[in-house]
Amino acid sequence: MTKTKHLTQVFIAAALLMSVGLIVDALKTAHSETDSDWGPKWNAKGELILPSDYHTWIFLGSPLTPHSLNEGKAGFPEYHNVYIHPVAYQIYKKTGEFPEGTILLKELQLTLSGTNEDGSRVEASGRGFFPAQLNGIDISVKDSERFKDTNGWGFFNFGHHAPPYAETAAVAPKEACAGCHIANADNMVFKNFYAPILDAK
Ligand code: HEC
Repeated sequence: MTKTKHLTQVFIAAALLMSVGLIVDALKTAHSETDSDWGPKWNAKGELILPSDYHTWIFLGSPLTPHSLNEGKAGFPEYHNVYIHPVAYQIYKKTGEFPEGTILLKELQLTLSGTNEDGSRVEASGRGFFPAQLNGIDISVKDSERFKDTNGWGFFNFGHHAPPYAETAAVAPKEACAGCHIANADNMVFKNFYAPILDAK
């Protein structure tokens, strides 16, 4: 074999190896965008497993319905801190649609105990409400096939109390959750409250 021929063969072998590497990388990317390193995880009974890393997700907003503005009996007197997984967020930013497998996670967080009648207190920044104990988790999951009877979203409650929360949850009955989202939300999600972050340029 001549030296040039040998070099050519080495070159072709190297080029082949590189393209195999590129194809493997492309497959890995395609995989992570479709199913699920990031989407919902289900147990054998079909219950949703509570994600563990959600405090690292994208924070979307925090509606607040304190007792003092609800005749002392707000159903959810806490902050409602809403998070979305970063991959679902990136896909939403590109397409304007929540992808299949989107999880919206709402964690309740009590306000620090008040010193005024309306439940507010004074801190260095002023009079108002300030975050305290975490107090529960509600989740909605987009899966058009699994939840076709409730407009493609399933709803799950992991407890309304301080952590630890339930590790898994069965889908909630339509009357408990989905019904109100069907009646009142913009295509199942109260998107207007998250738009300042979700739709920020
Ligand atoms: C009476 C109406 C009503 C019912 C019932 C209801 N929700 Fe909601 N939900 C809302 C509203 C309004 C918001 C947004 C404003 C807020 O959080 O105060 C919301 C927000 C959410 C969010 C954040 C994403 C979004 O769509 O805005 C999740 C997750 C959620 N709810 C899950 C649940 C679960 C799980 C249940 C049942 C255990 C449930 N909801 C029952 C009205 C309701």
